[in-house]
Amino acid sequence: MATPPPLIDSHCHLDLPHFQEDRDQVVARAREVGVIAMVTQGVDVASSQAAVTLAQTYPSVYAAVGIHPNDSADFHPAMLQTIEALAAHPRVVAIGEIGLDLYWKTTPLEHQIRVLREQLDLAARLGLPVVLHDREAHEPLMAELRAWVRERVPGSPLTRRPWVGVLHSFSGDLAMAQEAYDLGFILGLAGPVTFKNARELRARARHLDPHRLMLETDAPYLSPHPYRGQRNEPMRVKWVAEALATLWDVPYADVAAWTTATARTFFGINDLLS
Ligand code: NI
Repeated sequence: MATPPPLIDSHCHLDLPHFQEDRDQVVARAREVGVIAMVTQGVDVASSQAAVTLAQTYPSVYAAVGIHPNDSADFHPAMLQTIEALAAHPRVVAIGEIGLDLYWKTTPLEHQIRVLREQLDLAARLGLPVVLHDREAHEPLMAELRAWVRERVPGSPLTRRPWVGVLHSFSGDLAMAQEAYDLGFILGLAGPVTFKNARELRARARHLDPHRLMLETDAPYLSPHPYRGQRNEPMRVKWVAEALATLWDVPYADVAAWTTATARTFFGINDLLS
């Protein structure tokens, strides 16, 4: 059987208890469909530590470390020192998952912004790209990113990278996508692009730059059609690639090649198995 085209799941949460029973098989199944790398995201100090441990355990797993806006209620500056220490590990490829969330509103916006700024500054200092969560927070998030790119990125080691961050599971409009590109960001798309009733998202996805896009699952969440509602896992990134091949009217192998090249460059992953 021919080897499937390589794919990268740029965003998942492999540390969660959803994978406790069968994590080895989940990682192995992903490899079988061509997923050569997956980037498991931290959402707080404990899960960032777990992400690094998973990246040390599985050759195809890499880690992002950070504090998610919905897990920032007990944020204390000392936590940043732990995140920074974890980020020094060679298999940590990004600061994430960080951002703003005005849907769940677990903490006030001002508090979320403070935690976000601290981590954006850390990322600039360390020269690591950021993985951004944006739920119903387009405007305040873009304001933060604009200011960061203007004031903190210049002169930092991040200027050596082609892109400074990714808007994960992108939900904005095309004007926002364009501004994100102009600021040096790329976009991530997950399972919702496969949903038949996500008409607007699918219409917009058709116009996104295929060379500034990464595939993701956000597993165990956002399972693609026809698995909607079930536990998601990294092998299903394949369905996101297939949906984009249909939307863009290009071969699946092209979607795999473009998005994998982008993810390799974005995360600076050069020691992949194949
Ligand atoms: Ni996530």
